[in-house]
Amino acid sequence: MEEVNKTVWVHFFGKKYQVPANFTIMGAMEWVGYQLRHGCGCRGGKCGACACLYRIDGKKGLHGCLACQTMVQEGMFVVMLPFFPLSSRSVDIRRGGSIQEIISQLYPEVYHCVGCNACSRACTQELNPMHMVAMVKQGRYLKCAEESLECVMCGVCASRCPAEISHPQVFQLVKRLAAMRLVPPSDHLEQARRDVESGKWNEAMDEIMAKSTEELKELYCQRNMARRTSERLR
Ligand code: SF4
Ligand code: SF4
Ligand code: FES
Repeated sequence: MEEVNKTVWVHFFGKKYQVPANFTIMGAMEWVGYQLRHGCGCRGGKCGACACLYRIDGKKGLHGCLACQTMVQEGMFVVMLPFFPLSSRSVDIRRGGSIQEIISQLYPEVYHCVGCNACSRACTQELNPMHMVAMVKQGRYLKCAEESLECVMCGVCASRCPAEISHPQVFQLVKRLAAMRLVPPSDHLEQARRDVESGKWNEAMDEIMAKSTEELKELYCQRNMARRTSERLR
């Protein structure tokens, strides 16, 4: 009970609020009355929509975090970054040229990284974007693709970068190029593609599309129960 009654003072967008200490930033924002139409998606740390920057009063350091995954702390000054203007450039990845050529033409700023580590210190997923950028420069594209799989594209790293690198977009391009050129073809994926094209799943899809919201919810819950049961039996 003591835990429930404990409160902390925080600042959201420059305004001071007293909020329950056991709330996430997102929960506390909604508790004091913000309606998060932007900056709120999955609520599960997956979509990257709720990126925030914060400081703790009297302490050094500007930190990045996800509002749905981070608890409020006493003296927290928080601002949400529901959108950060990343530089997104497009290319036909089936065109010729090496991966290195494509990246250096599209995102030459990658080669201007000064190794300051600001991006890694800010990463909301505790990834190491500075190392991932170094991997791109070294031509270790597969490794970079693997290491950036958990990137939620929140853009907080890019907001801190003096070289103006749009890390999530660079990593996305590396993942696509690596999947296309460096990863061996997958037989089961190819089979799945053929199944979709041949219409194998059309009837099942039509059935699902015809269901009401309530029926879909029930189906979804059954799916979770079936998965948990099969996990228990493993
Ligand atoms: S590397 Fe990805 S998850 Fe980490 S801060 Fe950058 S965009 Fe967000
Ligand atoms: S913030 Fe930019 S310049 Fe600094 S290490 Fe990261 S990528 Fe390099
Ligand atoms: S709402 Fe999706 S990561 Fe927070």
